[in-house]
Amino acid sequence: MSKHIIQVPDIGGSEDVEVIEISVAVGDSVQAEDTLLVLESDKASMDIPSPMSGRITRLLVQEGDKVSQGVQIIEIETEGEAASSATEQPTAAKAESTATAPVAPAPAPAEVSSATVSQQRQAIYVPDLGGHAQVEIIELPAKVGDQLQAEDTLLTLETDKATMDIPAPVAGELVELLVKEGDKVSEGDLIAYLLTADSSASATISSNSAPAPAEIAPSAPAAPVTSAPREQEVRVPDLGGHSQVEIIELAAQIGDQLAEDAPLITLETDKATMDIPAPFAGELLELKVKVGDKVSEGDLIAILRTQSSANPAPVAASASQSSAAQTSAPQASAPIAAPAATSPAAPKASQPASSGKVHAGPAVRLLAREFGVDLSLVPATGPRGRILKEDVQNYVKAILQQPRSTTPSTAASSGAGIPPVPVQDFSQFGEIEEKPMGRLLKAGAVNLHRSWLNVPHVTQFDQADITELEDFRKSIKAEAEKQGAKLTPLPFIIKACALALETFPQFNVSLGAEGDTLIWKKYINIGFAVDTPDGLLVAVVKDANKKSVYQLARETADLGARAQKKQLKGEDMKGSCFTISSLGSIGGTAFTPIVNAPEVAILGVSKASIQPVWDGKVFQPRLMLPLSLSYDHRAINGADAARFTSFLSQVLADIRRMLL
Ligand code: COA
Repeated sequence: MSKHIIQVPDIGGSEDVEVIEISVAVGDSVQAEDTLLVLESDKASMDIPSPMSGRITRLLVQEGDKVSQGVQIIEIETEGEAASSATEQPTAAKAESTATAPVAPAPAPAEVSSATVSQQRQAIYVPDLGGHAQVEIIELPAKVGDQLQAEDTLLTLETDKATMDIPAPVAGELVELLVKEGDKVSEGDLIAYLLTADSSASATISSNSAPAPAEIAPSAPAAPVTSAPREQEVRVPDLGGHSQVEIIELAAQIGDQLAEDAPLITLETDKATMDIPAPFAGELLELKVKVGDKVSEGDLIAILRTQSSANPAPVAASASQSSAAQTSAPQASAPIAAPAATSPAAPKASQPASSGKVHAGPAVRLLAREFGVDLSLVPATGPRGRILKEDVQNYVKAILQQPRSTTPSTAASSGAGIPPVPVQDFSQFGEIEEKPMGRLLKAGAVNLHRSWLNVPHVTQFDQADITELEDFRKSIKAEAEKQGAKLTPLPFIIKACALALETFPQFNVSLGAEGDTLIWKKYINIGFAVDTPDGLLVAVVKDANKKSVYQLARETADLGARAQKKQLKGEDMKGSCFTISSLGSIGGTAFTPIVNAPEVAILGVSKASIQPVWDGKVFQPRLMLPLSLSYDHRAINGADAARFTSFLSQVLADIRRMLL
């Protein structure tokens, strides 16, 4: 039995052709010439047939992937000798050279496994680190057994100046990792073995991208010695052969007094992040670039006004001074520069100054950018406060786990950036059961959260003496019942609130969309909160100011009953100007209700109780009703709130005032 990796055959020179169908699954037995997968370019679609009979043991691509000749696609286990595959080549045009890769002479110092004729064990060495040695491994994103694509990050190194990913030079299975986090490595150290079918792959990290960084040296002649302030250009230094590198952050602002080596801008390729520091101290007069610009060596970044009498020359290192091309193997597919330690213009540490101490490698930064995540908000769990990929993933997960409908509305209005509550596994403390929230509960949570985040709340407390009101209510309760009205304090409170809204129309407003206008309402609709087994509902009494107490009693009873039976229509819950939340039948002495935005005020009513009230001579037992008025302080000032509750108290204390 032997295993063979099947590669994409010659497909007529086409590159990055999409896999539109995978025709087999792991475990399938296939015959030679059976279709393995189907590729499609803009010109043609083509079947890739199996060059041999056998059993599929691994799929190395998935639908949607883009492949070119030589890319590994499928692993097949055959019964016979691997060499027999030569006689099982797929026929002509379809896939001529699909065959497993023959054993290549091992390029030193690669080691080649003799287990099968199609795979080779390839040693991976640390590339040129720009002169650095004993650089710490701070992250090992790949694990033994992982199937890596070329350029997938194998490990991340960090000096005090830069963070850099060391990528896999070719696709293959990571079969051995010879280093661990915290180890220190230098150029040429053996770090891993990959099992790869690509015989042409170099044994060392191929130099398909950055040549190793050179020391950055000034190309301009030394500046004349002067003690007078002078304006000096700051240019992009040698970027280790990279060009058109994106600026991801501006670390300084015009007018800043920069110390020598203070970060000016941060650049990032897909492999590395680095700061370009000020090569000398001075005032930042002009910034010639912005975030998103792409820069290359020699590009003008900024103008600094310096005082120094011995200014170094501008940073512009000449391209010719990149010694990358001459560095000895193994070369780097590596970061845009492990910076040269000695140059004053050397790129500095990867922390963006603008976001404080964000500490993350290029791969993590790239991931964060793809998700639009502000890394300064991501809690770091890596060594020395370093943000790991998992931290970004957990952060995104936590955001997504918030109720979906809150995301756009709260994000837009709350200025975002609200740190999520950390996700916890409660099962570690005891038995738990997770159940979905009901629709009503979720909707309520969204509304309350939105109001809480948007509205600057203040709550004004008061008490109304309803001794007489209660006497009156009880005296006419039976009569009211004959008229189909259950007379609780609520209809009286609604009536009193309607009158208060007429008297204080500034409570019957909403803020305009831009927050700089007020919308004054000429109608008075009053909502009241109804507690139902499924959650809270607000039913709305329309034109409350035009209705009698009996009408209000009938209507609130009807709306309350229908709310309990989930029979409220949309219309019954819309158009409220002001809300009452009565917990009077339950208990409590006061609470702080949340404004039902876009309304600007809500009245909380707690349970009335007999209180001793001083009448000037003696304490009298009076039935006092606690009132809690929460209001939007953007629309209403505190004095008006106090007037509003005083007015309400007076009206409820003597309901004859409702006639005035
Ligand atoms: N103080 C003392 N007793 C009160 C009272 C108060 N503030 N308010 C009501 N009561 C009494 C009533 O008079 C009634 O007693 P009675 O039959 O002897 O007259 C009893 O409590 C029950 O009243 P209830 O049937 O609940 O009617 P209601 O008109 O007071 O309330 C609702 C109707 C719909 C507002 C109420 O049922 C409800 O759902 N309240 C909860 C609202 C809520 O959850 N708010 C919280 C939002 S965060």
